[in-house]
Amino acid sequence: VSARPKALLAFSPARNPDTVSSEQHAELVSLVELVHADPVESFTCAGELLREVEVLVTGWGAPRVSADALALMPALRLIAHVAGSVKGIVDPVVWERGVLVTSAAHANAIPVAEYTLAAILFSNKRVLRLREFYRETHAWPRPLRDYAPGLGNYRKVVGVIGASRTGRRLLELLRAFSFEVLLYDPYVTSAEAAALGAQLVALDALVSSADVVTLHAPENAQTRHMFDARRLSLLRDGSTLINTARGSLVDTAALVTELRSGRIDAVLDVTDPEPLPVDSPLYVLPNVLLTPHIAGAAGMETQRLTEAMLGEIRRYIAGEPLQFAIAAADVERLA
Ligand SMILES: NC(=O)c1ccc[n+]([C@@H]2O[C@H](COP(=O)([O-])OP(=O)(O)OC[C@H]3O[C@@H](n4cnc5c(N)ncnc54)[C@H](O)[C@@H]3O)[C@@H](O)[C@H]2O)c1
Repeated sequence: VSARPKALLAFSPARNPDTVSSEQHAELVSLVELVHADPVESFTCAGELLREVEVLVTGWGAPRVSADALALMPALRLIAHVAGSVKGIVDPVVWERGVLVTSAAHANAIPVAEYTLAAILFSNKRVLRLREFYRETHAWPRPLRDYAPGLGNYRKVVGVIGASRTGRRLLELLRAFSFEVLLYDPYVTSAEAAALGAQLVALDALVSSADVVTLHAPENAQTRHMFDARRLSLLRDGSTLINTARGSLVDTAALVTELRSGRIDAVLDVTDPEPLPVDSPLYVLPNVLLTPHIAGAAGMETQRLTEAMLGEIRRYIAGEPLQFAIAAADVERLA
């Protein structure tokens, strides 16, 4: 490690307008020597400067570190990704060459868990339906139990799918409430689940017994259409499905059919495809709360991602172990 290693920023300034505050930028340049003042969006434009780059700070809109790009950066030792998943950015050859890879996925999980907590609390309060009723009738729903049976957050069953970075943060937040928490995760033992405050159950058992089911698993071949027509049919009447993970975990056509029946509600921050076609019923169904992929770090929250990666760069320079290093072997299991 050089005293003040040479570094390059590689991300899209348009997609990261708030990500690096001026204080954070000042701290960064006290730690590293930037070979180019502004972030680059392609490696070809950085040319000869790449040869000296030891630390690459990537973010949303970064060019992929392919075998070709890596060949231009013989001094590269660390990629610090100021965003979540590195899958789209880091080619497996990067690990093969022994370059350290770290990302702010933990920091990005925090706002997703916060969004989800808010969604759970409002779902159990039947906010979507009762708002709709009030808006249409200008009357209070009385007796309330006829309009919102089992209303409220007391002793509700929350089913969490995936003890991911987001799932774990949510499990921590859920401890503050009087919920019974179920967890499905093929990588977690019953004892680990218990330590996280949840009971480990099979996926179908979770879906058929929870008042709210929330998805926090990565997108991959195992999770694609995890919620197909059959599994959606297992959701309890009046329950809510929350998806802040990836749209592909749910079969969109089957979800629309189930939502049209009015049997369940959905809170969807992600969909398949994204954005949805203009005629998608998900825009207008009264039992759907649809948001445009905002659960993750946005606005000022993106500075938390930078904070996390500044910490990693400090540790790298000090010769300390990274806190959020991603190993090649982890990539398949991670988002
Ligand atoms: N809406 C947003 O803005 C936003 C932001 C960040 C992440 N995400 C999405 O949220 C999800 C979670 O992200 P993360 O970074 O917390 O994930 P992560 O990388 O921490 O998740 C990996 C973990 O998920 C669990 N898992 C793996 N396969 C599973 C399966 N088949 N069933 C259940 N659990 C499984 C395992 O515990 C694994 O360790 C991902 O789908 C990610 O793409 C969305």
